[in-house]
Amino acid sequence: MISVKRQRLGVNIDHVATVRNARGSAWPDPLRAALLAEAAGADGITAHLREDRRHIRDADMEALRAGIGIPLNFECAATDEMAAIILRLKPHAVCLVPEKREERTTEGGLDVAGDEARLTAYIKPLREAGCRVSMFIGHAPAQIEASARIGAAVVELHTGHYSDLHAEGRLAEAEAELDALRKGAALAHALGLEVHAGHGLTYDNVAPIAAIPEIVELNIGHFLIGEAIYLGLGPAIEDMRRRMDEARGAQA
Ligand code: PXP
Repeated sequence: MISVKRQRLGVNIDHVATVRNARGSAWPDPLRAALLAEAAGADGITAHLREDRRHIRDADMEALRAGIGIPLNFECAATDEMAAIILRLKPHAVCLVPEKREERTTEGGLDVAGDEARLTAYIKPLREAGCRVSMFIGHAPAQIEASARIGAAVVELHTGHYSDLHAEGRLAEAEAELDALRKGAALAHALGLEVHAGHGLTYDNVAPIAAIPEIVELNIGHFLIGEAIYLGLGPAIEDMRRRMDEARGAQA
């Protein structure tokens, strides 16, 4: 039985750093955004330290680790450089993603099935350091089963394709993608994995994802940072929170 309890909302603050870096100044400060998110009821902060440091930088990760009172989810590629930083900072959680320099955002899921032996060895010291390790993957059963085999605690299901189809008004295809995400979430849960989801979620498309009972955490960034321009970050997060709770039929 799955208890349909309150779903956690992790807020990704990468794009606060994108705006800061566009000007080469110290503002806006990602830590300040993280603290506002925390005050607005976010359950965690996600930040992606990319190999090219295009948004979040090493000093941001240090400041977030020291400065926030809610869990930090350190998102990165599975490289030796990142493992060394993680083992020094010991964040609450690590989410491993595929990374290509030329992409604008994380475009696909990690190929866990195709890199099983390396990833098993890669996550071992991170798990031993107490980090909750997550694999950002698509809903293919082979990737979910491989994530369970390598000893990951969590899979985060990539909702980007669903979000794109929804935005393009291709609703029958979006529904088919949702169905595959539902099946993937059920399989992952049955294998003992904690299930998260994220990428491309907005006020308009979040409800069916939030309603999937096995998904206990959503990670949302780009849309919320955009809405913050109009509403302020706190109200934008509170609105997303309300929509997630309504979809879930859960008490806040
Ligand atoms: N989860 C993961 C693993 C991601 O890579 C991202 C994007 O950085 C997100 C969630 C959030 O996606 P978005 O910024 O589109 O809300």
